[in-house]
Amino acid sequence: MPKLIDGRAIAQKVYAELQDEIASLKLRGLTPGLAVVLVGDDPASRAYVRAKDKMCRELGLHSVKLELPATTTQEELLARVNELNRDEKIHGILVQSPPPPQIDESAIIRGLDPRKDVDGFHPLNVAKLALDDDTGFVPCTPLGCLRLLRETGITLSGANVVVLGRSMIVGKPMALLLMRKGIDTTVTVVHSRTKNIPEICRRADVIIAAIGRPHFVRTEFVREGATVIDVGINRIEDAGSERGYKLVGDVEFEGASKVAGAITPVPGGVGPMTIAMLMSNTIKACRQISEL
Ligand code: GUN
Repeated sequence: MPKLIDGRAIAQKVYAELQDEIASLKLRGLTPGLAVVLVGDDPASRAYVRAKDKMCRELGLHSVKLELPATTTQEELLARVNELNRDEKIHGILVQSPPPPQIDESAIIRGLDPRKDVDGFHPLNVAKLALDDDTGFVPCTPLGCLRLLRETGITLSGANVVVLGRSMIVGKPMALLLMRKGIDTTVTVVHSRTKNIPEICRRADVIIAAIGRPHFVRTEFVREGATVIDVGINRIEDAGSERGYKLVGDVEFEGASKVAGAITPVPGGVGPMTIAMLMSNTIKACRQISEL
């Protein structure tokens, strides 16, 4: 059996580190504050937003949860973002994605104060990631994946990593992060138009699956002993469960775990780390805005 990479336990370790930082900020009279904005009532987004708000409160951070109706206009949302940009108690702002169709998401992201963009989606933060500028914000999911990899103890320098998916939230920033000086992996990004995906994956020391397709990565994608990080959270029908669906990753866990050296479960792998990294980014925003 492979080593199971326990995202919940590693997230707890991150929180223990953050608690010391929060305590030292509080001694200086500072409480990091996060605003999470949800437009509409998508049940999955609502659950994520609730989890983020709850974790802020548990850590003693200032938390504002803004729930706006699905009919909110672009102008209304921009106005709310501007209020949060000006709010001195708020150091981090996250607008939950995806918004309803009348919202131009990229215009909203560009409307964020980049110093408060704890998602790392603003063009200035994307540029800082590409430029190896540590004052920028790196998106939470890639940051969480990197921490999971570090905790497994595998050697990253020179490792071959295959990232499946090229989204702005995971795939693209993940690739930029992994090729940074000091991390030094060799990255291949595959996507829906890539030929021979299983063959490319079989050359990987590390596979990061963020392609949004349930059970896409199977046994034959994984080299003996490779590390597999599953970012996917897909709802599939499950008549046997009370909710009528179950959550599965982009990796077919049963098969992949027969050959992998280490693997993340879904749930309990990447998910808890994403929230931990959001808390970490919020504390960083507080420190930077306060010039500490
Ligand atoms: N929706 C799914 N993941 C994310 C995320 O990391 N940030 C935001 N804002 N929305 C998301």
